[in-house]
Amino acid sequence: MKIFGHRGAAGLIAENTLESVEIALLHNVDGIEIDIHCCKTGELVVIHDETLDRTTNGKGNVKDYSLEDLKQYSTQEGYAIPTLDQVLDLIDGQCLLNIELKGKDTVIPTIKVLEKYIRNTNWEYNDFIISSFDHEQLFELKKSTSHFKIGVLTEKSVVEALPIAKKLDAFSIHPSIEILTRDQVDLAREVGFDVYVWTVNDKELIKKSKFWKVEGIITDFPNFVTEKRSI
Ligand code: G3P
Ligand code: CA
Repeated sequence: MKIFGHRGAAGLIAENTLESVEIALLHNVDGIEIDIHCCKTGELVVIHDETLDRTTNGKGNVKDYSLEDLKQYSTQEGYAIPTLDQVLDLIDGQCLLNIELKGKDTVIPTIKVLEKYIRNTNWEYNDFIISSFDHEQLFELKKSTSHFKIGVLTEKSVVEALPIAKKLDAFSIHPSIEILTRDQVDLAREVGFDVYVWTVNDKELIKKSKFWKVEGIITDFPNFVTEKRSI
């Protein structure tokens, strides 16, 4: 079972920051999950919400700020909002990267950035899973390139995600642990999809995920999991 740090290591340090990614790497994760949005000048920035309000000392929509403007804001702890490029530079192909397309119109800029890195650095197509709840964006991705692994995020059920995953020729289905059942894991596997479940933060849920043989969990506490891989 692969272990992905959620938003880096969101349970240990400010989410979706370079520091968070660094902590996840220190715990030898198999992969890291991050959320991305496009800012006003077109660069991709790593932040969960549409607005700056919850996680930084700024206010308002990410898409209304230039990258230069965003640089003046930070998390409570003083950590900057990273760009996707900075995260790619930091990880440098050391682990898998699950990029969640959170903001609108992120598909084309994401492909451009990733292909630049694949051409010029240690990164390979296989290192990425691109996921989203916004299935329209996943269809746009599929139309643009067949090289990236696609993950279908669902808050409802594997059953809801299955027909979409089939049409997308997706790699994986990403359900919430809140709604997952063993039957659903089996169902996804029968049809040939990997299951990556979020957000798995306690020992019992980790055990259950392992018992159900999901391919991966996404956790806020990569430390807890990597220290106890024997669970
Ligand atoms: O990708 C899994 C998980 O991150 C989806 O929910 O709200 O944490 O982005 P959220
Ligand atoms: Ca996410």
